[in-house]
Amino acid sequence: MEKKALFPQVGRIIHGGDYNPEQWLDRPDILEEDIRLMKKAGINEATLGVFSWSMLEPREGEFDFTWLKEIVDKLYENGIYTIMATPSGARPAWLDEKYPEARRVNKNGVRELHGIRHNHCMTSPKYRELVRIMDEKLGEMFGNHPGVIMWHISNEFGGECYCDKCVQKFRDYLRQKFDGDIEKLNHAWWNTFWSHNFNNFDQINPPFSHGEFSSMGLSLEWRRFTTINTADFCRAEIETLKKYNPDKPATTNFMTMYDGLDYRVMEKDLDVISWDSYPRYHNDYEKLSDTFYFNAFCHAQMRSMKRDKPFMLMESVPSLVNWHDVNKLKKPGVHKLTCLQAVAMGSDTVQYFQWRKGRGSFEQYHGAVIDHLGSDDTRVFREVADVGETLLKLKDVCGTTLKNRAAIIYDWDTRWAFYEVRAFAHDTIRYDDTCISFYKTMAKLGIECDIVASDSDLSQYEFVIAPQMYMLRNKTSANLKNYVKNGGVLLATYMCGYVDEDQLCYLGGFPGDGLKDVFGVTIEEIDAYYPSERNTVKTDDGEVYTVRDYAEILRDCKARVLATYGGDFYEGSPAITENACGSGHAIYLAARIDETSQEKLIKHCLGLTKTLASECERALPEEVGYFVRCGENNTFEFFLNYSEETKNIGNIGTDMLTGEEISALKPYQVAVVKH
Ligand code: GAL
Repeated sequence: MEKKALFPQVGRIIHGGDYNPEQWLDRPDILEEDIRLMKKAGINEATLGVFSWSMLEPREGEFDFTWLKEIVDKLYENGIYTIMATPSGARPAWLDEKYPEARRVNKNGVRELHGIRHNHCMTSPKYRELVRIMDEKLGEMFGNHPGVIMWHISNEFGGECYCDKCVQKFRDYLRQKFDGDIEKLNHAWWNTFWSHNFNNFDQINPPFSHGEFSSMGLSLEWRRFTTINTADFCRAEIETLKKYNPDKPATTNFMTMYDGLDYRVMEKDLDVISWDSYPRYHNDYEKLSDTFYFNAFCHAQMRSMKRDKPFMLMESVPSLVNWHDVNKLKKPGVHKLTCLQAVAMGSDTVQYFQWRKGRGSFEQYHGAVIDHLGSDDTRVFREVADVGETLLKLKDVCGTTLKNRAAIIYDWDTRWAFYEVRAFAHDTIRYDDTCISFYKTMAKLGIECDIVASDSDLSQYEFVIAPQMYMLRNKTSANLKNYVKNGGVLLATYMCGYVDEDQLCYLGGFPGDGLKDVFGVTIEEIDAYYPSERNTVKTDDGEVYTVRDYAEILRDCKARVLATYGGDFYEGSPAITENACGSGHAIYLAARIDETSQEKLIKHCLGLTKTLASECERALPEEVGYFVRCGENNTFEFFLNYSEETKNIGNIGTDMLTGEEISALKPYQVAVVKH
């Protein structure tokens, strides 16, 4: 096992998940049986306490931790480690009754009633105080417990609160950001427009639904503030716990493509990234492999936040969820494939929500390892136990990481700016989809990409794609210039560099902030197409690509023209260009082209890199995922068949999972080769 393993004391991949024994305290027989079954399924971890507040403090100041301590001890005696959650994600009734300020005020200005979860005010001093008291107790009791290997802060942070305290804090945030100078803010938000100038910071409100929603600057800063305030809440919890043991790592579980929080800001306070993955396998709108490619993008996004460490798959489900439009079973074998995809992509854990199905309430039909049937003689249990055995064989991958040489830039700020902008064609901006589609094109060529921010260090990459990089944050342009000058190959697409960090348009032509020189082109106009409209792009080597949705008209082209438009009044003008800059290359794609054409363009770009062209020559069949985890002494190549057909992959060596020489993958099969 490598030195950088997240949990050296466990010595293997974590296999476990959310466990809610507090729902079964009146059934000691079931709790006893749980331990037996966990061991049988190869479970070595349980996440406890996520929603336990009302059982830990049934009335204010009356604490009862005995049941929790007994369970942690019992699990530990049986070789099962605990990840201990703080219960701040859901509040007991007494708390909401006595301290209404803990409850959120919604966008309409109405304070919510008690109920549901994940809906506390992040600012409320009283709530923070009550959470701190609770966390002190947890820290005291479990900070040095050898069976408790990590803190799990709250649960799936999200949402916003519009109470007076949050409004005040937002104003303070703005005051600080704009150096106490309201004119700076007025300029940044272009407030002379519609007579929106403020005289002082106290006139500013967040974007209430019956208030100001037309100020893009305001909306964007509100989102940034919400992230900062949430991160601050999370950090306060971590600081309390770390007083009791600075070495115990902390995480909080992120969500799939969640847009309400900039995870790259929150990430900084966490020791490890963890996330919850619930894709819609076997849906009726895409191929199964596409669902896997989508999930791969999400894994890559999470992994890339801390590139030098493994991440954690904190939640997933062994069978079905209860909240999709159609709650479909995973077909036999697919569960194992999903688990191994996470491991292949850098996760050192495979965790579930949840161990045992509850009898009642909102999630009574949510899948679990143990069904209402209560037996280990089920398909799901057998598949989970099989995963348990398989993960044991892979214990040496713990601590290894992926060392990718290609990346895709993905920024929350650009994502948010697209939500606010009044331009283009609203239904087709599709920033996320565009990034995912480039990721997928690269994956199909056998090249795994990291998903990084526009100000991330890019020096490890030979090739970087910047899809629809509409907003240039302060450091973006300098970062990209540097990257290209030092030999990087950069492919950017339409909608690049229109606005600065405040969403003010650049003057003198897009892309702004000096990027025109990097690409050797200026964007003069952008044409949006109706859904049925098409154009073409003709390349200098005779290819014709279909254009849909967007076409930019370029001018002042100093770059080499790789392709021109085939139609419309801009027929013959440049559509794809390539500029040599320093020792690198900057390629600009001015129109949205389909995935097959994208692949051809990418192959051209890879030809400009040092090693990546030969990488994609490996030519694995479509729908086979390929990842390499690298350690100090070994590398592990993973081959995953995302499809329902057998795939020939050539002789790749001996598979660690079967111990056999392998040259073909059966449907859903995964092979791992150690070097
Ligand atoms: C997650 C959440 C869990 C559980 C699960 C159901 O988002 O963290 O508590 O509700 O969804 O799929």
